[in-house]
Amino acid sequence: MTQHLAAPAAPTTETRTDWWRDAVIYQVYPRSFADGNGDGMGDLEGIRSRLPYLRDLGVDAVWLSPFYASPQADAGYDVADYRAIDPMFGSLLDADAVIRDAHELGLRIIVDLVPNHSSDRHDWFRRALSEGPGSPLRERYHFRPGKGADGELPPNDWESIFGGPAWTRVPDGEWYLHLFAPEQPDFNWEHPAVQDEFRSILRFWLDMGVDGFRVDVAHGLVKQAGLPDIGRHDQLKLLGNDTMPFFDQDGVHEIYRSWRQVLEEYAGNELGPGGPSSEGRRRETGGRILVAEAWTPTVERAAQYVRPDEMHQAFNFQYLGTSWDAAELREVIDVSLAAMGPVGAPATWVLSNHDVTRHATRLANPPGLGTQLRTPGDRELGLRRARAATLLMLALPGSAYLYQGEELGLPDVTDLPDEVRQDPSFLRAAGQDGFRDGCRVPIPWTTEGSSYGFGTGGSWLPQPEGWGELSVQAQTGDPGSTLELYRSALAVRRAEAGLGAGGTVEWLDAPDGVLAFAREGFVCTVNTTAETVRIPAPGRVLLGSEEAEVSDGTVHLPADTTVWWAV
Ligand code: NOJ
Repeated sequence: MTQHLAAPAAPTTETRTDWWRDAVIYQVYPRSFADGNGDGMGDLEGIRSRLPYLRDLGVDAVWLSPFYASPQADAGYDVADYRAIDPMFGSLLDADAVIRDAHELGLRIIVDLVPNHSSDRHDWFRRALSEGPGSPLRERYHFRPGKGADGELPPNDWESIFGGPAWTRVPDGEWYLHLFAPEQPDFNWEHPAVQDEFRSILRFWLDMGVDGFRVDVAHGLVKQAGLPDIGRHDQLKLLGNDTMPFFDQDGVHEIYRSWRQVLEEYAGNELGPGGPSSEGRRRETGGRILVAEAWTPTVERAAQYVRPDEMHQAFNFQYLGTSWDAAELREVIDVSLAAMGPVGAPATWVLSNHDVTRHATRLANPPGLGTQLRTPGDRELGLRRARAATLLMLALPGSAYLYQGEELGLPDVTDLPDEVRQDPSFLRAAGQDGFRDGCRVPIPWTTEGSSYGFGTGGSWLPQPEGWGELSVQAQTGDPGSTLELYRSALAVRRAEAGLGAGGTVEWLDAPDGVLAFAREGFVCTVNTTAETVRIPAPGRVLLGSEEAEVSDGTVHLPADTTVWWAV
């Protein structure tokens, strides 16, 4: 039985304003990408020097995790000044140079925006603290008196995502809300000054020339009126599955409608001739976009963020969390396309980011262990599955996100000693053992040398032995390498008309554990089982995550392998 699922079609003119509908967007984690000044910490100069690598890889856009002035209590997701660059990353001039160079190379730049909370060193919060109870600045955050005879108990029972209570008491006796670390006080989004300030911050960066914003904790800005108790003390387990009074409240959508209007005031940026498909991109203009980091209970709830007058894309975390299982993958693909179709938004696909264990390690472990693992698992199996999973992802209609280093097949570094770990979800409270540092280890560029080409001054998290064997230098030109697989896949994706944003996914008959679907002139076959399966060859092989033998019209599809076909 076949089934058709439609995705909205993208126009194919040379002046597309909806480049984002099928864009491949590469996440750069500035601390760990490239260190230009040799202080052991990645920076904008380093990023700028590596932009040609990203152009050659074949991505469309680069998303930069935060580089703003920040005390780094949560690796920059605690912003002290939204209009300044932290000196450890460079200056506004460096940011300007990155944006200009990227555009000249045909790459777009998306920056991270952190509107749910500021740093406790933000000027507003510092003044709110020093002015004391009753200060109008306290109304820009959530300050409350405590419960109990002397106000010694938090105002409600909410728990921080990083562990412990979501409230901290200040010396004058009031408490303030922080859904994340105490150094990250939540803004009160009911306050007009907060709303005005963020529209102004959007304009600041749009004037700087960015092509869009990845909106951090987009589901968290509005809290349920009265800040009601939840009544349970295992709230972390409910996240992403249940409706919480601090997440995914309907009021957030009003905010994104007003932001969309700000973006619509701006024309798209022109890209230079240096991009991978310079033909037709020369005079291209395109829209500026908003991308929601919204952990919602369902894909349908995520679709609410990308209605036509709100954001453009929302991360598909349901996809990221799906096991290497054909039936489960088919289900999440169907549900995702079905949810996005009615709102006219592209589906998005993502396998790794800076908050989860890299997919080469997740897929090396048994399913069901979650997304933050401490065990390396079977590395060879993990890499093989990761390559197959990536080819599946890149064959789906919509936009895909890559996380730096996945193109090298990097595993998580699962044995970082506790003394070097910096993730606040590890450091904060007993019972919390977030392990996000494992995917944040600086990436290897060269086979040898100080920090394997990351920089000349070591690396802020230690790189494991053998890291150089996985480097860009080691993999370049090796046809069997994961880097060359990504390069080929992105080139084929660009060249094949049927792999654009629109069109359909037509499921084809396939044995248990195998996925097969057709798009226009194209078929993707995925064997998620541990055995070779024999199926009719649907056409001519375009690319495979492993070699697949084809004879007499039959393909021997090896275990854990994806093959792309031209038909
Ligand atoms: C999501 C970000 O991806 C994560 O790294 C951060 O800790 C939280 N939001 C809080 O800003």
